[in-house]
Amino acid sequence: MAPTIDEAERSFSGKRVLITGAAGFLGSHLCLRLSKAGASVTGADNLSVARPDWASLASQNGFETVPLDIRHGEEVRRGMAERSPEVVFHLAAVANPRACKQDFPLAFDVNVVGLENILRHAPATSRVVFMSSAAVYGAPERLPIDEGHPRKGSDPYSVTKIIGEDLAGSYKRNYGRSVAIVRNFNTFGVGQAGDYIVPQLIRQALTEGRMELWDPSTVRDLMYIDDTIDALVQVAASEDAGPINLGTGRGTTVGDLAAMIGRKVGGSLPIVDLKKKVVGSPALVSDNGRLQRLGWSERVGFEQGVDRTITWSRAQLAGAKA
Ligand SMILES: NC(=O)c1ccc[n+]([C@@H]2O[C@H](COP(=O)([O-])OP(=O)(O)OC[C@H]3O[C@@H](n4cnc5c(N)ncnc54)[C@H](O)[C@@H]3O)[C@@H](O)[C@H]2O)c1
Repeated sequence: MAPTIDEAERSFSGKRVLITGAAGFLGSHLCLRLSKAGASVTGADNLSVARPDWASLASQNGFETVPLDIRHGEEVRRGMAERSPEVVFHLAAVANPRACKQDFPLAFDVNVVGLENILRHAPATSRVVFMSSAAVYGAPERLPIDEGHPRKGSDPYSVTKIIGEDLAGSYKRNYGRSVAIVRNFNTFGVGQAGDYIVPQLIRQALTEGRMELWDPSTVRDLMYIDDTIDALVQVAASEDAGPINLGTGRGTTVGDLAAMIGRKVGGSLPIVDLKKKVVGSPALVSDNGRLQRLGWSERVGFEQGVDRTITWSRAQLAGAKA
C-alpha cells in the first residue's frame, strides 16, 4: 500500500536533500516542509527571481542556503560533491512562459543545460525529482489530460520542458538513474508573486476593487501550494519514474475564480472581460490517477487555499503601505 503523506514525510528525517530553485515559490515551501520533517536541507539558487523574504525564511528555519547557478557545471559539480545529497528536487528554471519567450537562449541555458548539469553531477545513487509542466501537452486533445496524452507544446517554455523530460528519461534508461518526472499544472498560494492568475486577480481585487480577465472561459487546474508540496514529497518517497501529473483533477474557469475572489474580498466586484486570447492552452485539467495511487489527496483544497492566499496578500499590501 502507498505510504500516507505523514509516512512519506517521516521518511525524510535525517536525509540529505538538495533543492534547486529554493528561493522561488515552490522551492521555498519545500525547504520549509522538509527541514521541519528533520531532513538536512540545502537550498540552492542564483537568486534571479528570489522571494524577498528568502534570507529571513532560511535563517529562521535553520536550513542551509547556497548560491548556485545551475548553468555552470563546475559549480554544480562542487555543490553536489560537497553535500552528496540522497534526494535532489530540481525546481530551478526560468519558470515564466513569457520570460522564456522573451529570452529563449537564457531559458535554454537554465532549463536544459542547467538540468543536464544536475543530472550529470547528482550522486549516481540519488533520487532526482525533475519539475516539468503541463505546458508540455500544448492544446489538449481531450480532458482530463492523462500522462499518455501527446506532448505538443511548442512555445519556448514547453520546448525546454519537453527536452528536459527526454534528458531525464535518457539518464534513467541509459545510466539506471532514479529520476522522477513531474508535470505540474497550476500551483497558487502564499509567497507567489508575479503575473500568475491567482495573485494577479487577488491584487487587483484588493487594490482596485475590480478584476480584468483576458478570457473568463479559460479553464485551469489550480492546486494550493501545501497540496503541491505533499505531492512532491510523495513522489520523491516513491520509486515512480513518471511522468506524473501533479494536478487536482478539477477544472475551474477563470471567470468563476474571479467571482469567488470578488465575493471573498468585498461583495461582488466588477469583472471586466478584455476579450483577449490567453497565452497557453484554453483549458488544462489533469487526470491525476497516478498521483492518487502514490497516496496523495488534497488536504487544504481550493477554497481554503484561496482564503489563505487572500489573507497573506492583504498582509503583504498592508506591510508595503506601512
Ligand atoms: N508555479 C507553478 O504553477 C508551476 C507550474 C508548472 C511548472 N512549474 C515548475 O516548477 C518549478 C518552480 O516554479 P516556481 O513557480 O517556484 O518558480 P519561481 O520562479 O518562483 O522559482 C524558480 C527559481 O529558480 C531560480 N533560478 C532561475 N535561474 C536559475 C539558475 N540559473 N540557477 C539557479 N537558480 C535559478 C530562481 O531564482 C527562482 O528562485 C519550475 O521548474 C517551474 O517551471 C511551476
